[in-house]
Amino acid sequence: MAILHENYALKPYNTFGIEAKANYFFQFDTVSEIQSFLDDNTLDNVDYLILGGGSNILFTDDYEGLILHPNIKGMEIIEENEDTVLVKAGANENWDEFVEWAVTKGYGGIENLSNIPGVVGATPVQNIGAYGVEACQTIEKLDAISIESKRQVEFQNFHCDFEYRNSVFKNEYKNLFIITHVYFRLNKNPEFNLEYGAIQNELKNYSDVNLKNIREVIIKIRESKLPDPEVIGNAGSFFKNPIVETRFAEKLLKKFPDCPNYELDNTNTKLAAGWLIEQCDWKGKHVGQAGVHKDQALVLVNLGNAKGFEVLKLANDIRKSVILKFGVKLEMEVNAI
Ligand code: FAD
Ligand code: EPU
Repeated sequence: MAILHENYALKPYNTFGIEAKANYFFQFDTVSEIQSFLDDNTLDNVDYLILGGGSNILFTDDYEGLILHPNIKGMEIIEENEDTVLVKAGANENWDEFVEWAVTKGYGGIENLSNIPGVVGATPVQNIGAYGVEACQTIEKLDAISIESKRQVEFQNFHCDFEYRNSVFKNEYKNLFIITHVYFRLNKNPEFNLEYGAIQNELKNYSDVNLKNIREVIIKIRESKLPDPEVIGNAGSFFKNPIVETRFAEKLLKKFPDCPNYELDNTNTKLAAGWLIEQCDWKGKHVGQAGVHKDQALVLVNLGNAKGFEVLKLANDIRKSVILKFGVKLEMEVNAI
């Protein structure tokens, strides 16, 4: 049932654990509920924000507007052939439970994305990725509601302009479409992606390489590096890994030969933001209750009762020092609101 809350506490809805409130919070269970809400309420002059699990959001203040929270559930196989299944999942299905379900059924393609917080509806937005795999490799299409026309629109994969931690939903269609369902094409005879050395090393302790063991290894590696938001508030990597011209990377490497770098193509190279931040001596540091995680410099943390603007201030100070030392601009991955 759709519910409109007023003056609603957002702490349970952001993994940074920031205390903030929204003037209005509208939660809906079905596509028709949001369509009739939009029929009755024009959002032309209202600030609004679509919110999933809040694991990639930083509230820098109370939200003086309306939050739209899809509570759409459901998971069904809508097509099956000898090699693949097409699974339709509702926006508010928990992502990691979805991965676990797929792994248990023997459907491959998303096992490397195990243990990423958040819900299915947000996975296309920044095209979640980990350990050599991105969501766009299995997302076939998605359904969304246009806030302007209130109509349901289907986006095929190629309409989404997927890139590293990016899609059309972070750019020209930001906040214009509410993703209600995502369709994943999963493989019944999966080819495993084991390009990360750490995964291969851990798998040596297992007698067999299969979906279940890969998932187990990934969860283990992630738990050893990333803070659990239930214990320390955070939103995963705060910045994207910067992509620079290879010519620039080569110059940088002459000065800093240890700088981790991954050549993407003939002209572009990805650098490791965590390394750049650590070299600027930020790792483990904190300013008030806003800090840089002691084991992963790319993760900013709320050590207790940090305010969102304090985390943002820390992020800006980090960006300044990385520019000064390396001439590299860090772009935020987290959505500061
Ligand atoms: P939210 O934070 O609620 O929203 C994120 C963005 O999507 C916002 O702009 C929001 O407006 C928009 N949005 C949400 N739902 C919808 C919808 N239905 N329709 C339209 N727009 C919508 N990310 C990775 O890619 N790889 C990782 O390995 C990874 N590891 C993480 C580890 C930790 C410990 C944490 C806390 C986060 C990590 N993340 C990672 C980031 C985060 O989990 C993902 O970005 C996730 O997809 C966010 O999902 P969410 O439901 O919490 O989205
Ligand atoms: N590094 C340091 N110091 C640090 C952290 C990292 O020197 O404090 C170095 C590491 O030694 C390594 C390199 O940086 O050489 C990369 O580190 P890591 O493998 O831990 O990955 P990452 O670049 O920090 C990225 C993603 C993660 C994803 C992992 C695994 C981005 C912005 N982050 O992290 O995604 O889970 O790879 O694939 O691309 C997220 O997006 O929220 C996220 C957690």
